[in-house]
Amino acid sequence: MLKLDVVILAAGLGTRMKSSEPKVLHKIFDKPIIDYVIECAGKLNPENIFVVINPSMNRVVEHLKNYNVKIVFQDEPKGTAHAILCSMPYLMSDNVLVVNGDTPLITPETLLKFIDIFQNNEVDLAILSFYPERDHSYGRILRDNKGNIKKIIENTDMTSDSQSIKEANSGIYIMNAKILELVKNIKKNLKKGEFYLTDIVEISVEKGCAAQAYPIAKEDELIGINTRYELFLATKHLRDKVVKQLMESGVTFYDIETVWVSPSVKIDKDTVIYPNVFLEGDTIIGQNCIIYQSVRVKNSIIEDNVQIKDCTVVEKAHINSGSTVGPFAHIRPETVIGKGCRIGNFVELKKSTIGDSTKAAHLSYIGDAEIGSNVNIGAGTITCNYDGKKKNKTIIEDDVFVGSDSQFVAPVKVGKGAYIAAGSTVVDDVPSDALAISRTPQKNIEGWAKKRRKQK
Ligand code: UD1
Ligand code: CA
Repeated sequence: MLKLDVVILAAGLGTRMKSSEPKVLHKIFDKPIIDYVIECAGKLNPENIFVVINPSMNRVVEHLKNYNVKIVFQDEPKGTAHAILCSMPYLMSDNVLVVNGDTPLITPETLLKFIDIFQNNEVDLAILSFYPERDHSYGRILRDNKGNIKKIIENTDMTSDSQSIKEANSGIYIMNAKILELVKNIKKNLKKGEFYLTDIVEISVEKGCAAQAYPIAKEDELIGINTRYELFLATKHLRDKVVKQLMESGVTFYDIETVWVSPSVKIDKDTVIYPNVFLEGDTIIGQNCIIYQSVRVKNSIIEDNVQIKDCTVVEKAHINSGSTVGPFAHIRPETVIGKGCRIGNFVELKKSTIGDSTKAAHLSYIGDAEIGSNVNIGAGTITCNYDGKKKNKTIIEDDVFVGSDSQFVAPVKVGKGAYIAAGSTVVDDVPSDALAISRTPQKNIEGWAKKRRKQK
């Protein structure tokens, strides 16, 4: 493999995003744009990865600590050529791969192919180009009638002639030491007042260096994010790719236009995904599951044969095989649901473990609880876990039957096989096999209602 340094340009202000957040920290699914570029570059095993940023981008500096990259400061965003000049004193390899930090969908496969082409063709400067299918603001690749590249014309300098050029610059280049030296000769573009790296093409050609552009990938991979619309387009491209791969591996999607599946999500075969589903983070879904419409699952493990019904949110939870959850359930972090459970509508579970075959079918809040297996949680059951200062635990052992509308004032424990009478407020531990009943005795006052009606 060719020894090279990678320089990622990320010091631009990203004004077209109209955001107080640096552009490269905007996210595609759950990951900032810059992470995609850094992770892709890392797969090439380069000598070094340099990221050029503006010193005012404190949050980017902080964020880049997660990665093994070297930060280069460009004090003022004077253009892409100036960004390269700032990194030059630190470069350690003869060849440099330059990648715009706002091009997150680029893949290692394409970059490796590009590096091969650069090496095999023995050029001094290689440009990765493509043919966009929509209106765009990319620089155009101007070639002579023999197909040799002459220059790159930036959008700002476009004439009606250059407008018709179909081939565009991706902002990805490989240059050798000879070309890097020539970057110093780039002059300020008068219209924009910036030093354009793209001017390197014309200068290199004039100096007799070998330069060529290679259209080896599609915009699906090379989209540059300058605006919120392009951020959306990039997310959509990635979504399409992820969903297509999942379909190829045996997952059914009813409507690929409305689901959003992050690339980190894994789904096993014969699982069916309904419309309007969001699957995010490190989510793993097993075989034969059904995820019904308008469900959001984040950082969770869903085992085989699970059904998650409409409008349910599952976050950082583990649902074991054969269970049914929802509709309208909220499964909050650190919850583990056992096998064959039924968690029904309007049930909220938080930081709780639910044993196998347990049912909480309607309208409950279970928080900080340990519920055994084969337990029936009646409608309207509430764990009163919070005393205003701290969270307390409710333990309900196996085979307990909890009648509807019961409250457990934690900390409290219910022994195996006990019954809780409907409408009880349980404040003391309940022994195994006991019946706990705590209701005000009912009083019927004969004729009361009839008398009241007469008074009116
Ligand atoms: C650039 C290219 C254009 C190409 C397009 C591909 C130039 C002059 N134009 O245009 O030919 O088609 O990318 O997406 O290079 N940056 C710095 N310092 C600066 C200015 C920019 O580091 O002073 C960084 C930005 O953060 C960004 C990258 O360089 O990641 C490209 O800059 P941007 O302003 O987005 O250039 P484009 O107009 O997209
Ligand atoms: Ca750009």
